[in-house]
Amino acid sequence: MKAQLAMFGSKPVVRPEHRRLEWPVVTQADKDAVLRALDSRKFTVGAKNEQEISGLEREWAEFCDTRYAVAVNSGTVALELALTALGLQPGDEVIVPALSYVATAMAPLYQLAIPVFVDIDPVTFNIDVTQIEAKITSRTRAIVPVHLGGLPADMDEIRALARKYDLLVVEDAVQAQGGKYRGETAGSMGAASVFSLNVEKSVPTCGEGGLIVTDDENVAERCRSLRILGEDLSTEERLYVSATRGSNLKLSSVLAAFTRSQLARFWEYQDRRDKNIPIFLSRLAALPGIVVPPVPEDRTHMWHMLRFRFDPQAAGLDGVTPGRFRQALRRALLAEGVPLTHYQIIPLPGQPVFQEQNAYGNGYPWSLPGTNPQRYDLADYPVTCQVIEDSLCLRRMHLNPDAGPALDEYAAAFERVWENLDVIARFARALDYAPPWAAVKGYEQKAGVPA
Ligand SMILES: Cc1ncc(COP(=O)(O)O)c(C=O)c1O
Repeated sequence: MKAQLAMFGSKPVVRPEHRRLEWPVVTQADKDAVLRALDSRKFTVGAKNEQEISGLEREWAEFCDTRYAVAVNSGTVALELALTALGLQPGDEVIVPALSYVATAMAPLYQLAIPVFVDIDPVTFNIDVTQIEAKITSRTRAIVPVHLGGLPADMDEIRALARKYDLLVVEDAVQAQGGKYRGETAGSMGAASVFSLNVEKSVPTCGEGGLIVTDDENVAERCRSLRILGEDLSTEERLYVSATRGSNLKLSSVLAAFTRSQLARFWEYQDRRDKNIPIFLSRLAALPGIVVPPVPEDRTHMWHMLRFRFDPQAAGLDGVTPGRFRQALRRALLAEGVPLTHYQIIPLPGQPVFQEQNAYGNGYPWSLPGTNPQRYDLADYPVTCQVIEDSLCLRRMHLNPDAGPALDEYAAAFERVWENLDVIARFARALDYAPPWAAVKGYEQKAGVPA
């Protein structure tokens, strides 16, 4: 007899202790590192003989195969400073994928530059490199590929376009710390690249932090100045003289010390994750109608996030739409204790900040003289819409190095739900359905958006 579903009252498959895993794992070594920073009494990057921030910058550059790393107080700031240090000007256009964290598209606004979105690839979820060229204009200055979920983007194609049109490439490598693409390291393939150290990342800090990496000494030097109010740093003694606009964006040495300790055991953790996550994925891949994240042979997956697409036809459920199937599965799997989430409920160009072109008032930067009008129409991003509609994600905290037993239970929960697909189909057909973006003001019934 097949097992009943938890959504109808049976005992959930996943035990309570596996419904929310702990990340970051904090060890005695991390605590000792933090105490070491406190005992040093050198708390900021400006302190003479400060060791932790400079140590992290040295070790991070080595980790990324780059010459320089500059620590700042978030990944968002890292992106803002990288683009600024590379000379982005007001009114420049920056090409970004339509699916990412909003920071990728928000960062160009820091320099009054304008994000231009490109739809994603339906398999890798990264920027669709076949659609970039059509978005390049005389105003385009940079491409910011994102290694979404931990899988490096198609960097060779991106770099070829950048060479052809003389564009900058800035990798948003935030989700792919340590990743490899055709033998190169994530972060080493752009004019500058950025990382975040927030608590969700594989190498976190105990709070917020970020890093810019580059091989260009001038770019590194500019970032160091920009994080400290644009100060002229060429003098041995700090004179508090600002050469350009900047802000106070420095990382604390306590946070740097914690990250150094985490970085020291990153590969040991990654090895364990490289064992338990593929076992979990192969169990799911055996169920008809689940598409698990692919790992092309020429790159590594850093398992920042797993996105599963659900295909009702392949599952044998004719007449059930992908959105309804996903929504019914979400209800059933959450009831079983599998902590699935959406990752983005709307393509980035649909976010109200871009829809309403609301950044600095008076329509700036979109209203600057000579700029190209931007449509930001969701109908231009059909793949991103489809993927958001038919997929759910498992996030980093549930993919920690000791997640094996939890992942076993998640797989068993999927298997139980798949034994009951007839029930799921009935439930899906009867749902009061709305696509995920219906939760966004203005999109309740937006015409032209695939539903
Ligand atoms: C792809 C991507 N880019 C940028 C950021 C911004 O990093 P932070 O949260 O450290 O500002 C994030 C955030 O996690 C991200 O996922």
